[in-house]
Amino acid sequence: MDDSVFSFSSVDDCRIITLPRNSHENGSLSVIGNDGSFPFTVKRVYYLYDIPGDAERGGHAHRDNRSLIIAVSGCFDVTLDDGHQKRTFTLNRPYNALYVPAGLWREIRNFSSGSVCLVLTSESYSEDDYVRDYAHFIDLTREKTAR
Ligand code: TYD
Repeated sequence: MDDSVFSFSSVDDCRIITLPRNSHENGSLSVIGNDGSFPFTVKRVYYLYDIPGDAERGGHAHRDNRSLIIAVSGCFDVTLDDGHQKRTFTLNRPYNALYVPAGLWREIRNFSSGSVCLVLTSESYSEDDYVRDYAHFIDLTREKTAR
């Protein structure tokens, strides 16, 4: 773990990106491509499913990794915390992607039955990129903003 690697962001840097929709009477299709319209080149995709309604996911920050989070099915709440303020996004449309820069504590909860949380990331998986201790995260944000 290298505490010199920690990208501080503000919750104000988070935003919803509306994906293009191709809708017909027989269904809809949305595309995510590395066509320059996304904030990063996607290196990894993972998804959460079979999530109990009372589950809480996240509970960590990433030092460098950026994410796009999509409720491809159902809905859930994503709370981002920059150490100073928190912001909660309710994701309930498969064509809305929440952009989460590095350096934000995230908590995901209030999963509806059968919901699927798709996450696209800017980096490959590395446990060293995680900050899983909230007090440590707060220390890192204080150090960064004090500089
Ligand atoms: P974690 O990122 O903590 O999940 P969440 O934020 O959804 O609660 O990951 C849960 C477990 O899965 C943890 O042991 C690490 C592992 N994991 C991988 O092996 N590869 C991955 O790409 C991800 C995201 C997690």
